[in-house]
Amino acid sequence: MSTALHVHATGAPDGFCGMIGRHPSMLTLFDRIRRAAEQHMPVLIVGETGTGKELVAQALHRLSGVRGTLVALNVAALSEQLADAELFGTVRGAYTGAVDRAGLIEAASGGTLFLDEASDLSGGTQARLLRTLESHTVRRLGGRQEHPIRFRLLVSSQRPAGALVVRGAWRDDFCHRVNGITLRLPPLRERPEDVPFLINHVLRQLGCPTVSLVELRGACSYPWPGNVRELIRVVERAAFAAEGGPVKACHLEAEIGGAAESWSGADPGPADSPRSEERAWIERTLREAGSTKAAAHALGLSTDQLYRRFRALGIRAPRRR
Ligand SMILES: Nc1ncnc2c1ncn2[C@@H]1O[C@H](COP(=O)(O)OP(=O)(O)O)[C@@H](O)[C@H]1O
Ligand SMILES: [Mg+2]
Repeated sequence: MSTALHVHATGAPDGFCGMIGRHPSMLTLFDRIRRAAEQHMPVLIVGETGTGKELVAQALHRLSGVRGTLVALNVAALSEQLADAELFGTVRGAYTGAVDRAGLIEAASGGTLFLDEASDLSGGTQARLLRTLESHTVRRLGGRQEHPIRFRLLVSSQRPAGALVVRGAWRDDFCHRVNGITLRLPPLRERPEDVPFLINHVLRQLGCPTVSLVELRGACSYPWPGNVRELIRVVERAAFAAEGGPVKACHLEAEIGGAAESWSGADPGPADSPRSEERAWIERTLREAGSTKAAAHALGLSTDQLYRRFRALGIRAPRRR
């Protein structure tokens, strides 16, 4: 067993509520999530596909400490009638085949309702939701009775609210109501430093040994258009390709397929002096980590392995603490 695995197994930083991210934009986001969780107003979570919008919704719910449950509905491609029936519930005879049934808003009572891909909400559903939010009551489709209701609303969208209004997807009044706090998730290409940590996080979840961060630096310059979701698939495929053996950077690179060119472009390979690159990488990690032990951890190496890299690369080792 490699020492790197041991280091990770004992001290694996599992990020913030399951979210891995060390880039300053992510640290700021974690801080904003913490603060937003204490509020009651709706939160709009904006981010490209695969950036972790659902994880943010779960974190907000968990940290808010409310006793009720988190109820999620993916609105993408739902017809207005289906979305309304799901959200508001129905009474028998509201339409052909309708039965007496509570909707998800009632199920979220005392908890959180998360509307994923809410850019697809129809104007009619937006108006009904708005009414529910303002009156704190919900009326099932075809019903007369108003049920009192309290819930926290979270909505996600790939585009910012302003863009949705301009495109006519969202009503102005609905936008003002749900746009209390906006949390923006940066795409992976804006935080390339997080890529190696995410890859190792997924490897760990798969029970595979981790790869040293130095070897993974090529993955940082690939733009990851599918963000973390794409990264997870790539690592899973690489683990399969490794046939039970350790996953290496070359397996990951091969699984990126057509995009491998951008990966190779970033790392000229052993022939062209990656030594200076590795040196710069290690020195930067040392500065940021503050101690050799922390740097070794960040690089996925044991302290002894890191000292060997110091010697090989001619880096003056900081005094052992
Ligand atoms: N920062 C992160 N750290 C760890 N896993 C993440 C992170 N962001 C996203 N994921 C994972 O990536 C996948 C896609 O995330 P998801 O929240 O469904 O994205 P979105 O809803 O924005 O499309 C999920 O498996 C999720 O657990
Ligand atoms: Mg999603």
